[in-house]
Amino acid sequence: MSLNLDKFKSVISHAKEYGFIFQSSEIYDGLSAVYDYAQNGVELKNNIRQYWWKSMVQMHDNIVGIDSAVLMHPTVWKASGHVDAFNDPLIDNKDSKKRYRADVLVEDYCAKIEGKIEKEIKKAIKRFGDSFDKEQFINTNSRIIGYNKKISDILSRLAKSLENEDLEDVRNLIIELEIVCPISGSKNWTDVKQFNLMFGTKLGASADTATDLFLRPETAQGIFVNFLNVQKTGRMKIPFGIAQTGKAFRNEIVARQFIFRMREFEQMEMQFFVKPVTQADWYEKWKESRMKWHVSLGMGEDNYRFHDHEKLAHYADAASDIEFKFPFGFKELEGIHSRTDFDLKQHQEFSGKKLQYYDNELKESYIPCVVETSIGLDRMFLAILSNSLKEEVLENNTTRTVLKIPPFLSPYKVALLPLVKKDGLPQIAKDIYNTLKLEFNVTYDEKDAVGRRYRRQDAIGTPYCITVDHQTKDDNTITIRERDSMQQDRIPLTEIEKYIKDKISFNPTLLTI
Ligand code: GAP
Repeated sequence: MSLNLDKFKSVISHAKEYGFIFQSSEIYDGLSAVYDYAQNGVELKNNIRQYWWKSMVQMHDNIVGIDSAVLMHPTVWKASGHVDAFNDPLIDNKDSKKRYRADVLVEDYCAKIEGKIEKEIKKAIKRFGDSFDKEQFINTNSRIIGYNKKISDILSRLAKSLENEDLEDVRNLIIELEIVCPISGSKNWTDVKQFNLMFGTKLGASADTATDLFLRPETAQGIFVNFLNVQKTGRMKIPFGIAQTGKAFRNEIVARQFIFRMREFEQMEMQFFVKPVTQADWYEKWKESRMKWHVSLGMGEDNYRFHDHEKLAHYADAASDIEFKFPFGFKELEGIHSRTDFDLKQHQEFSGKKLQYYDNELKESYIPCVVETSIGLDRMFLAILSNSLKEEVLENNTTRTVLKIPPFLSPYKVALLPLVKKDGLPQIAKDIYNTLKLEFNVTYDEKDAVGRRYRRQDAIGTPYCITVDHQTKDDNTITIRERDSMQQDRIPLTEIEKYIKDKISFNPTLLTI
């Protein structure tokens, strides 16, 4: 794991300075682990959501979308297992009085060992140069084999202890590994306790009659309880999927790392209903397909990896994370879970309503199994923001800050910049702006020298800047500057729309399985 905490700090300050993300209720000193999306952030977030929706719903004939309510009948959460099992194991350090997730302390310890492995690899690359074979090195170098075995032993033991609810052993593991509190530096730990992550709320006006509700901790249950409604009204045939995006709420105890772990966040989930016994095949297909989707964004194949779970959630028979290399290391971006028939079976039992599918080919009814893909929209946002933010040294030795966001996701596609604020140039630029805004999200800026305006657009990731100058008045041409290469083309006004469309075209053909 190569940590790049300075980079992470600059991502956070860039997000604020350029109107992407603000701390919630900032004038009241903020609310911990809750954030607001600002004027540029909301555009990027909407574009990511739309891209996911297009590739998931529009590109699949057998996937439809819904938008279910945040508030649900309280029995939903009893049936789903969240009331009893949606817990995090917590441990306090007696000296710093800080609270930690016990499993995260152990995982962070393993991440440090991974950092050592990366260092060994980097040294070897230097030593062996072009002839270096990474795979072979990892499999034969005794130090790396030792490190990997240590990680695997620790994580297996952690998974087993959590599975068996053996919290004492989780504590023992922390003690044996001599893990210290990052704040106090001491090993003075309390026992490990389980803590439920759901936020409670009340429905009803009077205190005696109010019903206790929960804010949904995942969007998936809104899909499960609507499974039969959608299947029947949409005449869906198995295999088929139901997708939705929306807010989820978790009372995260260790909420840090900016928008990576928030108390209010947004998920983009898809439940794929399949014939029982075929779920293992579908699970593999969706793993492959989702990885392809991520890699196709062009943020570097090496920045992604799978992490297959040893400890499975109460509903799953297989699970894997797609991890992304954030500035603070490889962390979960998306989960792919084979949820068996657990949820539908539970809802059938708790509601007393049949949730079965009649299979016309088999001439029998059954409860389908489910393969779920679940991605955090905010994490995807953070992945894109942190990967795109670059400090570049230019030929004239000045630097520029540029957000190299994939153009189809950028908040604005085009900025209209009249070279000067006179001679009729602003009017021409505004006319172009008014035409282009029918098709794209465009912005207009006439303040300061054009070079400074280019920098402002670079910093928010606008892929094209159009400059209207005096020549425009003579021959109806403008210059169009591309963000990444800073190359400028001179093109006729009549060709602008086509030029931009061709350049920012979006490829949603990536997710058909
Ligand atoms: N329905 C399955 C489910 O909710 P999960 O692994 O708990 O599974 C899925 O969450 C995704 O939601 C994660 O991969 C992550 O991207 C996102 N996520 C989970 N908790 C989050 C949090 N506190 N803040 C931001 N994103 C979160």
